[in-house]
Amino acid sequence: MIRLTIDGKRVEARNGEFLLALARREGIEIPTLCHHEAVEPAGACRLCMVEVTKAQWNGFSKLVTACLYPAEEGLVVRTDTERVMKTRREVLELLLARSPRAEAVRRLARQHGITVPKYNVDEEGDNCILCDICTRVCSTLVTGAIARVNRGVAKKVATPFDEASDVCVGCLSCARSCPTEAIAFLDDGLKRTIWGKTFDVVACSVCGAPTVTKEHPLWMAQRKGVVEEDFHVCDACKVGKTGQACRKVMW
Ligand code: SF4
Ligand code: FES
Repeated sequence: MIRLTIDGKRVEARNGEFLLALARREGIEIPTLCHHEAVEPAGACRLCMVEVTKAQWNGFSKLVTACLYPAEEGLVVRTDTERVMKTRREVLELLLARSPRAEAVRRLARQHGITVPKYNVDEEGDNCILCDICTRVCSTLVTGAIARVNRGVAKKVATPFDEASDVCVGCLSCARSCPTEAIAFLDDGLKRTIWGKTFDVVACSVCGAPTVTKEHPLWMAQRKGVVEEDFHVCDACKVGKTGQACRKVMW
């Protein structure tokens, strides 16, 4: 066990545990926009900055990203110093100027007293804050159909050459994990369109409601060994089936 303090509280961390995970375990809130439990941290949004020091550092302290900084013996962590709050507000000013309509950004900015950023607002700016959650989720858990492309102000998330991807299975993992709802998709009956590709959707074998794209369970069966047909029943009917089975067992 590693012993350290966060905001004056003595805590114990596991080997290799990051400060963000430790703080959250201790009920200390640190705002984040690029953190997602399903994937490795990337340190992309810079919102989770905290100030750290040690007794032997002779008064020196530094700002680090809590999501990527592992707990160390004797570390003194502060999540709410003036330096931390100033940096956090600065990050939010930039994010709000880039993505003025992104609700997650607006909410955090409001909580930090910012309604109008001091930087030029990009009125045409989309909701993508380049947090890379979608690309990490897609490459780690699914097919790696999207990536961050271009440089500077032209940076964005896209499929190769902005064309319909050969490998995308239309699972919506990217859109559902995006903190700012920046990824557009259209579900229209038994058709789904995302990243410029339209998929056929399987109808639930019990009630006929749309379930998943045809490609998604096929890929899951090939790569993860799951039974393709298990995906052909919608969530509501799965719950219903489980309920019926439980009732049979109980009565
Ligand atoms: S589309 Fe969403 S999840 Fe992907 S990088 Fe942009 S903000 Fe992050
Ligand atoms: S959560 Fe740490 S940099 Fe985004």
